[in-house]
Amino acid sequence: MALLTVLCYPDPRLHKVAKPVAQVDARIKKIVADMAETMYEAPGVGLAATQVDIHERIVVIDVSENQNALQVFINPELVWVSPEKKSWREGCLSVPEYYDEVDRPAVVRVKALDIHGKEFEVEADGLLSVCLQHEMDHLQGKVFVEYLSMLKRTRISLKMKKRAKELVGQR
Ligand code: NI
Repeated sequence: MALLTVLCYPDPRLHKVAKPVAQVDARIKKIVADMAETMYEAPGVGLAATQVDIHERIVVIDVSENQNALQVFINPELVWVSPEKKSWREGCLSVPEYYDEVDRPAVVRVKALDIHGKEFEVEADGLLSVCLQHEMDHLQGKVFVEYLSMLKRTRISLKMKKRAKELVGQR
């Protein structure tokens, strides 16, 4: 396994649209293992392939308290969203140290392939629902800050660019 580099907003590669996975083979399993390792190391509760500059529809999530229940979603598709919405304070490994409220459907049903290439469906609420929607947005090239006002996004971009420069300066 290997740790992957997570792209930081406003990197334009975060806006690429991911392609469906044609076959869940050894190459995809290796990507999933590396993504899981990268997510746990961060630590984070979810990671989309887009964030590690791999533009295929792959998401890893672990919303368990002990970070020991990995969930893999290959080619995830929303099949149903609840009309009720819920607001959560979201964060993202690609937007370090920034959190803000986003309104999303409270409950979603998602269809995907598991690590063995087998189709399954889940109905999710709470953190898993938020996480699935957030990660699936990444696969469409959308970062959660795009739900916020232009003013906030401009501020976040400046903050992230400043942060990146400081990190380079530390090396
Ligand atoms: Ni994210």
